Amino acid sequence: MAEFVYRPTKNRGFYLRMRLLHKSRLSPEKSTFFRCYKWVLWISLSLYFFSSYFISHKPIPLSKIHLLNSNSVHPSRALFESVNRTLQESGADRGSFKDLKLFVYELPQKYNEDWLANQRCSSHLFAAEVAIHKALLNSGVRTFDPYEADFFFVPVYVSCNFSTVNGFPAIGHARSLLSSAIQHISSQYLFWNRSQGSDHVFVASHDYGACFHTMEDRATADGIPEFMRNSIILQTFGVEYKHRCQDVEHVVIPPYIPPDSIRKTLEKSPVTGRRDIWVFFRGKMEVNPKNISGKFYSKKVRTEIWRRYNGDRRFYLHRHRYAGYQSEIVRSVFCLCPLGWAPWSPRLVESVALGCVPVIIADGIRLPFPSAIRWAEISLRVAEKDVKKLGRILEHVAATNLSSIQRNLWDPEVRRTLMFNEEVQEGDATWQVMEALYAKLDKSYRRSKVSSQ
Ligand SMILES: *[C@@H]1O[C@H](CO)[C@@H](O)[C@H](O)[C@H]1NC(C)=O
Ligand SMILES: *[C@@H]1O[C@H](CO)[C@@H](O)[C@H](O)[C@H]1NC(C)=O
Ligand SMILES: *[C@@H]1O[C@H](CO)[C@@H](O)[C@H](O)[C@H]1NC(C)=O
Ligand SMILES: *[C@@H]1O[C@H](CO)[C@@H](O)[C@H](O)[C@H]1NC(C)=O
Ligand SMILES: *[C@@H]1O[C@H](CO)[C@@H](O)[C@H](O)[C@H]1NC(C)=O
Repeated sequence: MAEFVYRPTKNRGFYLRMRLLHKSRLSPEKSTFFRCYKWVLWISLSLYFFSSYFISHKPIPLSKIHLLNSNSVHPSRALFESVNRTLQESGADRGSFKDLKLFVYELPQKYNEDWLANQRCSSHLFAAEVAIHKALLNSGVRTFDPYEADFFFVPVYVSCNFSTVNGFPAIGHARSLLSSAIQHISSQYLFWNRSQGSDHVFVASHDYGACFHTMEDRATADGIPEFMRNSIILQTFGVEYKHRCQDVEHVVIPPYIPPDSIRKTLEKSPVTGRRDIWVFFRGKMEVNPKNISGKFYSKKVRTEIWRRYNGDRRFYLHRHRYAGYQSEIVRSVFCLCPLGWAPWSPRLVESVALGCVPVIIADGIRLPFPSAIRWAEISLRVAEKDVKKLGRILEHVAATNLSSIQRNLWDPEVRRTLMFNEEVQEGDATWQVMEALYAKLDKSYRRSKVSSQ
């Protein structure tokens, strides 16, 4: 039996706020209140923009719009966008996902909230699965009416089963947890079955994305679980060549770094401050790499870096963990981002956010949000085979175009692109995800029905 179960959210404050968008469900008296409220807000905003338009004849930056409303209820996106549209009829509007609608499933707590009992769950490098969920709950694209949704977000946290031995997240249970969540939504709601999951969105923030294994050979052998192959996967893994673990509709996303940690680091030392470390790397560099069924960690690239440049005074290389390493990144000119088991690394996000030029050493890696970040202008890519020439390559850059790379990199707009914030901010990582989903609206079951009518 096709039964759709609707449950209101527990988060009352937010629920009310979102209800501004859905006046159809409001009780009459509340509705009048909110309608008046909305009109007052609308009229004052319009007056403000109208008058400033004539005074300055320049578009108002978005930041002003946010400020204007920061101590009131969030304006509904529709309201805010109509204001923006009267300002500029330009179609090249970056907030062009204005009519995108996304439904966030409310799943039993065992799929998500229960895992947050461990604090690391929302802060470690795979925590994009938590961060995107939180940001979407509070975003203007969220709808409470699944019938008007273009996409369905399935919030399952699979990376928070930390090993008691080494603290790493064990993802062995990921497939069964996801499969059970899909079982749940496909029996409780009718939206999974009607599209075979093709308008459903998941996060897979692990080494090999939706293949859910840390070792590439196992990951590719297992492939993406059958039940997710029609869906849209937001994943950290991405390469320029054909790979089983990205053989699915997907968006490459950055790994998670807590925005607070970046803010705190920058409070102490600004991006444009002194950079007295020339080349920085801290992390696992095996002196004698182990042969693990024919594979070597980092394809021995990190070992090569250590062998060649340990002892070179221009290189600040450390093999041990240090919690304050962000303070080292912000002091560095170049930050090495070599592959580990997988090509991507959280160092990339921290380097960009802290203004250290990322030196990406991972052949074939596909970087997140290429339409928002012109990677060639803010980073360097060094082929794995050229790692022995690293010193000379970086010297050449330092002597020629380093300052132009830094100028591009230090643009605040670029630096915020890779950060997930609790509330979506213009241009941040969740914003980029929405843009990417907006570009996939042809996958929306609802729209395909509307347009074929
Ligand atoms: C969706 O399909 C599955 C498998 O065919 C079935 O068990 C389930 O009841 C269906 N769900 C709905 C809501 O009809
Ligand atoms: C609003 O309009 C300005 C000017 O065209 C544009 O830069 C900005 O991205 C727009 N914002 C949104 C959310 O539409
Ligand atoms: C967590 O991981 C351990 C070790 O891999 C596994 O035995 C256990 O079943 C997992 N827990 C859950 C709730 O999936
Ligand atoms: C690594 O080990 C595999 C067997 O697991 C072996 O076939 C291969 O030759 C070894 N490679 C090197 C470079 O030692
Ligand atoms: C800087 O120079 C390097 C090496 O000559 C080149 O690969 C890179 O594209 C240049 N980057 C910019 C932003 O000019």
